[in-house]
Amino acid sequence: MKALTLWRDARLATFHGDQPWGAIEDGALLTRGEQIEWVGRLVDLPADVPAGLDIQREHSLQGAWVTPGLIDAHTHLVYGGQRAHEFELRLQGAGYEEIARAGGGIRSTVAHTRAASEAELLASARHRLEALKAEGLTTVEIKSGYGLSREHEAKMLRVARRLSAHGVQVRTSYLGLHALPPEFEGPTGANVDAYVDACLDDLPALQAEGLVDAVDAFCETIGFTPAQVERLFQRAQQLGLPVKLHAEQLSDQGGSQLTARFGGLSADHLEWLSPEGVAAMAQAGTVAMLLPGAYHCLRETKLPPIAALRAAGVPMALSTDHNPGTSPLLSMLAVLQLACIHFRMTPEEALRGLTVNAARALGLKDRGQLVAGQRADFCVWGVDHPRELSYWLGGRPLINRIFGGAPDKE
Ligand code: NIG
Ligand code: FE
Repeated sequence: MKALTLWRDARLATFHGDQPWGAIEDGALLTRGEQIEWVGRLVDLPADVPAGLDIQREHSLQGAWVTPGLIDAHTHLVYGGQRAHEFELRLQGAGYEEIARAGGGIRSTVAHTRAASEAELLASARHRLEALKAEGLTTVEIKSGYGLSREHEAKMLRVARRLSAHGVQVRTSYLGLHALPPEFEGPTGANVDAYVDACLDDLPALQAEGLVDAVDAFCETIGFTPAQVERLFQRAQQLGLPVKLHAEQLSDQGGSQLTARFGGLSADHLEWLSPEGVAAMAQAGTVAMLLPGAYHCLRETKLPPIAALRAAGVPMALSTDHNPGTSPLLSMLAVLQLACIHFRMTPEEALRGLTVNAARALGLKDRGQLVAGQRADFCVWGVDHPRELSYWLGGRPLINRIFGGAPDKE
């Protein structure tokens, strides 16, 4: 049996129980291998821990705050090239949809991603991953969607899997229905359905290679219709794969109701979410994945209906949505601040969005809180209160990141 490690003299934001932040002052954690064995007040340790348990290592955290490891549950971290030129065009007044319709946008990244080798994609994604880890990332979801053929989607997903060798856990999502690849363009609409057919064929093959944990799509006027997405969701359901959706980002397509009907993990973006969509998500337990980075970078003015989501009890998660088009954002702490400033979320809601509710958006019950039985993924922060994580912009408050019980810094 693996030895126990005691992490003492901590203030814990557990996100468990009824206290604000799930806070435990004078707290301590016991870990064994990759798991949390016990969480509580240090003074309760002797009574709670059965006699004879052998604590082999002790770390004093010197009064620092500890939170669960941060979870980025919606990213497009693997891609070739970058799109700073489009950023500049948008600053001059061009619209995101306009650029996309003119052949830029997602399709420009598709060309770069197809041209890149697996090694090149891995190197650039690793660089970005390290930036997120430096702010406490321990689990990341990574989507395909810039390959748009079986070969290139598989390449992206293999790169995503390989990133798990670098001190994070990775969940993958197949996003074949992200944009129409150039070879399927045509004068009628039939070609779009032909591409959907191809994706329906690719999905089981990619799953068989162990590359797919969930299925996503872009339901939008410049993406795919609800009927096309529904065909993909049906195939996912047959294969036992959970679904999620880029929904109501630029218009209300009813994508969140569709996602809720399939018991989806999350509906993401949601600026144009309707009251019916809120009700459907509440009923199905589908998480609202809010993406303030994309909202910010596209200079959106239409806010997701935060008050309605809150009132309906829909869990709200946050993530970077890191991608080269709408959200070239590599800071999880910036996400907290953007959510507070733009969406008027509270600092506590925001941090729940990157921990407990992010875990829920990935369907993972073994992380996101500081509770016995969960993974020993946690962050040690040099702050006086966890609300400061939303407050500073550009500080470096992370003292240490503990991944699967192992600290980055001894
Ligand atoms: O989450 N909206 C669709 N997908 C991405 C943007 C992808 C891109 O522009 O490259 C998003 O915002
Ligand atoms: Fe996205």
